[in-house]
Amino acid sequence: MVSTPSPPGPRARVPGALVLAFYRDMLGFLCGLQHEYGDVVAFRLGPEHTVLLSHPEHIHAVLVTHHHAFTKGRRGDVSKQFLGEGLLSSEGAVHQRQRHLLQPAFQRQRLAHYATVMTTAATRLRQAWQDGATLDITPAMMRLSLAIASTTLFDTDVEDEAMAIGRAITTLLRFAPRFNMPFAPLLRLLPLPSTVQLRRAQHFLDTFTYRLIDERRAQGDETGDVLSMLVHARFDDGSAMSARQVHDEVLTLLLAGHETTGLALSWTWYLLAHHPDVDAAMQAELQTVLGGRLPTVEDLPHLSYTRMVFTEALRLYPPVWLMTRRAREAVQIGDYRFLPGTFFFITQYITHRDPRYFADPEAFIPTRWAAPPDAGPARYAYFPFGGGPRQCLGEGFAWMEGLLVLATLAQTWRMRLVPGHAVEPRALVTLRPKAGIHVRLARR
Ligand code: HEM
Repeated sequence: MVSTPSPPGPRARVPGALVLAFYRDMLGFLCGLQHEYGDVVAFRLGPEHTVLLSHPEHIHAVLVTHHHAFTKGRRGDVSKQFLGEGLLSSEGAVHQRQRHLLQPAFQRQRLAHYATVMTTAATRLRQAWQDGATLDITPAMMRLSLAIASTTLFDTDVEDEAMAIGRAITTLLRFAPRFNMPFAPLLRLLPLPSTVQLRRAQHFLDTFTYRLIDERRAQGDETGDVLSMLVHARFDDGSAMSARQVHDEVLTLLLAGHETTGLALSWTWYLLAHHPDVDAAMQAELQTVLGGRLPTVEDLPHLSYTRMVFTEALRLYPPVWLMTRRAREAVQIGDYRFLPGTFFFITQYITHRDPRYFADPEAFIPTRWAAPPDAGPARYAYFPFGGGPRQCLGEGFAWMEGLLVLATLAQTWRMRLVPGHAVEPRALVTLRPKAGIHVRLARR
């Protein structure tokens, strides 16, 4: 709810019209609102008093300055239903405690240890590919990032199960947004095909994660991976996490860690396939720095053009394109004061493509990132990993995986888009290509 002055926004003539328009095409709906009404847009989404914020200063206010005034939660939050009290969805003291416990697993030294896993998995893929073959790069990158996530986080290579896990996660992400709609509790009771598929997917993922936890517990000693750390971690009072809590964190990391990185890589290949000049410039850097050998963690600071390519891909196609917050107390943002309960949308996709912060914003121009950071765009004009106390825990992991996988695969393979196949984003929980990204492989 908004107190005066009220921000501009649409008023639905027919009740529910905005909800339907939103769920039909979330990305188009929100882009249209920003285009028509500007940086702060207020509207009703069913019972929700909702506000879309697109200005970097307002985003900074929500994520950093006034972060304590917000929860992530939506009523009947979908991620809570499926990921329980994992780090993505937990709040307050539980979140702080769990984040503190998980943080060591993502420290620099640990990450360096994961680098070999990443290049080994990418090498396996680069050897399996055939010259001239066509493929949808998205499932290929998802499988790769799932293999990397499962090996690094859980020290188990579940490649055999990767397809089934990938399918379950796709089902979850595809149908889950519907369960945020006002009549969601009712929907969950009905034997609709979507409800049945969703339940099956959830059951499959639950069984899978509890099996991994049991295996770890049976092993006894800590083996150094995240799962083993969680199973053996102790709170200050000496107690251990419950199996349910470990399950929630494990599933959260598996989901958060593979879907996003797989998509980031897929969109990067799409852009490279579409821009042979950028592909050639990246190749020149890889040849100079690596000369045909596999990349290591020590090479990363020297792969500056490759890093710019990945940075720019995350700008144009941010895998996490929408973040939500709810005000738990009255809060002032810019010229407006919002009452407790107001629901906020912040979208990377919109702000990342704003011409006020990025010249020629729709164009793929990696060298725009060559400027020193203080000459670059405002901090919250570009925030693919969010910000503030809830900033992505796996950001370092994601950068490392992105650069190492690109450098490993691109040295051997060039990709070209299959003609006549349109590539368009589809915004669900993450930003996926609507009908995949079909490419033809050519050996360099
Ligand atoms: C390109 C890849 C990735 C992108 C774009 C991304 C993006 C994000 C964003 C935007 C958030 C903040 C959400 C919010 O505040 O509402 C987030 C949170 C999180 N991410 Fe990532 N992420 C990526 C990769 C990863 C990886 C590889 C992992 C783990 C291995 C991971 C684990 C997490 C966790 C646990 C959180 C919740 C942090 C908290 O609330 O304390 N992410 N991510």
